[in-house]
Amino acid sequence: MERTPIHRLREFIGQKVTVQGWLQTLRDQKKMQFLIIRDRTGLVQVAFWKANDPALAERISTLGTESAVTITGTVIDNEIVKLNGLEIQLESLEIVNAAEAPVPFEPFGDSLPSIDFRLDWRYLDLRRAENLLLFTVQTTVEQAMREYWLQHDFMEIHSPKIMGTPSESGAELFEVAYFERKAYLAQSPQFYKQMAMAAGFERVFEIGPVFRADPSFTSRHMTEFTGVDMEMSWIDSHEDVMAFTERWIQYVYQVVKDKHGDEIREKLGVEIKVPTVPFPRISMHDAYVVLKQVGYALPPEKKGDLDPGGERAMADYVKKTYDHDFFFLIDWPITVRPFYHMRHADRPDLTKSFDLIAGGLEIATGAQREHRPDILLQQAFEKGLHQEPIQFYLDFFRYGCPSHGGFGLGLSRFMMVMLGINNIRETVYIFRGPTRLNP
Ligand code: 4AD
Repeated sequence: MERTPIHRLREFIGQKVTVQGWLQTLRDQKKMQFLIIRDRTGLVQVAFWKANDPALAERISTLGTESAVTITGTVIDNEIVKLNGLEIQLESLEIVNAAEAPVPFEPFGDSLPSIDFRLDWRYLDLRRAENLLLFTVQTTVEQAMREYWLQHDFMEIHSPKIMGTPSESGAELFEVAYFERKAYLAQSPQFYKQMAMAAGFERVFEIGPVFRADPSFTSRHMTEFTGVDMEMSWIDSHEDVMAFTERWIQYVYQVVKDKHGDEIREKLGVEIKVPTVPFPRISMHDAYVVLKQVGYALPPEKKGDLDPGGERAMADYVKKTYDHDFFFLIDWPITVRPFYHMRHADRPDLTKSFDLIAGGLEIATGAQREHRPDILLQQAFEKGLHQEPIQFYLDFFRYGCPSHGGFGLGLSRFMMVMLGINNIRETVYIFRGPTRLNP
């Protein structure tokens, strides 16, 4: 018999149906058993008269919660039932996969164990309604991102994740044994998305894995994450990239609000607010002035840069001054930016770059890239890089490469901000950190 999803049961009042799902709770009474069965679409109460089949009643009474079952029965309209006013009167039950008892934790229990414990049992944790919603929304987010890009003539690329040369700085690099030589896991698709500009693709995007050998344990860092990257040609400055980025983000928020806004409000208590454009732009110079005014002391080793506290202090300021949750910090000093960022012609100590801060968190970094090979080589030397390992990259700019720029955004950070979640471990499907390689 065909499977009926729980959210459609009302269409089958008085009919026999088959439902497949998990046993969420069991109330075993003297004469009757009440089971709550859950599938991806909802919950339903299932009632069974023990006298109808004592052997089946016996099997049900020993069934562990979270077992996977197939049940068949008749759908009854029953106002007394709190859950959707319906009930299935059970005729048969097949145990597809019994859950051992007790389960390490009840995904729908009253209290949740620590995040670390839940990550050990991630597949049980993912059964929670909040997680089902999160990954449903993330699917919509990625689709909306792609939709907007495709509407604006972008092409999708898939760049290699095994590289002969580090793509960002030498730090945070995973080395892998590659036959007789060393290779590295890609820290970003940076070089290869720029190669697409040299190839004349003009506008490209990539959503793919990024690896960072970052030993820190923070609520915003992972050693592997999904990078959302784009690159566009024939730009005049980093402003063109920001103007595109803010509209792309606005579109994604609008699609998510239209499709899931009500459910996100009900289940997570979060209101999806579509940001207005333009987002405020604040130069790093002005940001330092603001931080001084509000009395935020940046750690000395962060000179020219910003730390998470500084990002939050700036976010508070922007919220108060512009009533905006998103803003660009622009024109970063060359000391804290990679060699490939273009510098201002009239201020060579500053780059034509930006960070996008949302909800007090850096979610993206972007820039206009230096496409003039002689200046690019000079900038690489200034950063202490050797020419030979990056020669293949420098070659991209030798035979007609347009001006270009783009950004890289962390998908899980984007989801943290959108859904108001504090820890990145909660927003990524499977977390990778310095001490976590399993599951
Ligand atoms: O700021 P990042 O390192 O910039 C780049 O990779 C450049 N190639 C981007 C560009 O096109 N100029 O990384 C980009 C984004 C960050 O803003 C952050 O959202 C995310 O990637 N990110 C991380 N997310 C999780 N864990 C980590 N360890 C991350 N490091 C960066």
